Amino acid sequence: MTIDRAQRRGTRRVLSTLEELPPGTNTEVTVEGRSYALINDQGRLHLVRNVCPHHGAPLCFGRVQGYMLPSEPHTYDYSGDDADHRVVICPWHGYKFRLTDGRAVSDPDRMRVRSYEVLVEGDDVVAYL
Ligand code: FES
Repeated sequence: MTIDRAQRRGTRRVLSTLEELPPGTNTEVTVEGRSYALINDQGRLHLVRNVCPHHGAPLCFGRVQGYMLPSEPHTYDYSGDDADHRVVICPWHGYKFRLTDGRAVSDPDRMRVRSYEVLVEGDDVVAYL
């Protein structure tokens, strides 16, 4: 489903340019005093609050990667580059937050970091916050 600009909630905010945000980037952006982690994971753009819900670590310093999925004993199933299973790992205690919805892998119903849609408009990377 496509949402046109008139239906978007929030104010358009230019976060970066595409040129400033190559794949592999995880950087802090601040909008009206609020800190966010802006992530380019293999060309997919993500924006989450830059505050881990566990004890407040800045997620812009977290690694972005896949993770081990539940599997049968003696088998290993790494999510790898699967976009639905990419996470940012908190730099302090290691909670993994899915980039698709901000939910913690270990406790998705109770622990999550707020995430936002990121768009590319021309050369700009924007969000409606
Ligand atoms: S502060 Fe993020 S896991 Fe503890």
